[in-house]
Amino acid sequence: MATIVPRVFSGMQPTGNLHLGNYLGAMINWIHMQDTHECIYCVVDMHAITVWQDPKELRRAILDVTAAYLACGLDPRKSIIFNQSQVAEHAELAWILGCVARIGWLNRMTQFKEKAGKDKEAASVGLYTYPVLMAADIVGYRATHVPVGEDQKQHLELARDIANKFNLDYADAIKAAGFADGVFLVPPEPYITGPATRVMSLRDGTKKMSKSDPSDLSRLNLTDDADTIARKVRKAKTDTEPLPTAAEGLKGRPEADNLTGIYAALAGESVDKVLAQYGGGQFSVFKNALADLAVAKLGPVGEETKRLQADPAYVERVLREGSERARAIAAPIMRQAREIVGFIVS
Ligand code: AMP
Ligand code: TRP
Repeated sequence: MATIVPRVFSGMQPTGNLHLGNYLGAMINWIHMQDTHECIYCVVDMHAITVWQDPKELRRAILDVTAAYLACGLDPRKSIIFNQSQVAEHAELAWILGCVARIGWLNRMTQFKEKAGKDKEAASVGLYTYPVLMAADIVGYRATHVPVGEDQKQHLELARDIANKFNLDYADAIKAAGFADGVFLVPPEPYITGPATRVMSLRDGTKKMSKSDPSDLSRLNLTDDADTIARKVRKAKTDTEPLPTAAEGLKGRPEADNLTGIYAALAGESVDKVLAQYGGGQFSVFKNALADLAVAKLGPVGEETKRLQADPAYVERVLREGSERARAIAAPIMRQAREIVGFIVS
C-alpha cells in the first residue's frame, strides 16, 4: 500500500500560445519521459484563472494547449493528458494543504511578487495561493518527478516542504493508515535539466521568454509559420561582437548566450560544438542557420497543432478520457488524505 512508484507529473497554463521556452524548458523532457515513466500531463486551467481570463478564450486556450501537447508528441496511449478542473481532487487537496502551508512560506514566492506587481492588495487570493494548488497537483498523485523549467524551482521546493510538514503533522495517523515509513505525501523531485532550462526573450537576453511579454517578437510561438520564425530570428537582439569560439566567451553577453543555447538545444548538440562551427563568424550567418533549424523543428509542430485545432471533438475526448484515468489515481489517495486528517469518510 505504501510503496512509492516512480511517477511523473507536470503541467502548463492555458494562457496564450506555447512558445520555445515551454518547449525547450519542459516539453522535451516530458516527451522523453513517456518512454521510461508513468506520466501525467495536465492543462492547469484552475491556475490560469488566478488572473482574469475571458471564459470563451479560456475554453479555446485549453483546447489549443492540449492540441499543442499532442502535436509536440505527447501520446494519450502512453500518458495521461487531462485538464485540471475535471478532477475535483486537486481543489479539495489544495484546501487541506493550504492549512498546512504557512503564510511566511508563501510570502517568499518570487513569482507572486513578479505577477502581482506593485499593487499586491489588488491581486487575487488565488494568485497568492497558486503554489499550494500546484503542490496539490503533484502530491495528489504521489508523483515522484516533476519536469519543469528553472522558473518553477522555488514552487517545487515549497511542494516538498508542504509534503514533509503534512507527513510530520499527521505522523501518527499516517502510520495508523499503514504507511510504515511515515511517507504518505511523497516530496517530489524537480527534474530541471537540458541545455535550455531558462530560455530568454529574443528582444532582451536578460528577460525570460514569456507569453505575457507584450512584444510577440520576443518569443517563437509553436504555431508561428516559417516566415514569422525566420523574421523573429533575424530581428533578434544581438551585440556588435562576432560570436566567441568557446562557451566561456559568452559570459556577459546574454543575447549571444541565449541564441547559441537555443541552437544547441534544438540541434541536440553542445554549445561548444555550436561555437566551434559558428564562432568567430558574423551573427547574420549564424542567425540564418538558426532560423532554418527553428523552422525545421517547430514548423511541423505548428502544422500538426493547426490540424488538431480543427478537430476539437477529438481533443475533448482526449481530455475526458485522461480525466477519468487521472481521477482513478487521485480519488483513492484523496480518500486516504481525508481519513488521515480526521474527517468522517462514509
Ligand atoms: P507556463 O507557461 O508558465 O505554464 O510554463 C510551463 C512550463 O514551461 C514550466 O515548466 C516552465 O518552467 C516552462 N517555461 C516557461 N517559460 C520558460 C522559459 N522562458 N525557459 C524555460 N522554461 C520555461
Ligand atoms: N506553475 C507551473 C507554471 O506556471 C504550472 C503548474 C501548475 C505545474 N501545476 C503544476 C507544473 C504541477 C508542474 C507540476 O509553469
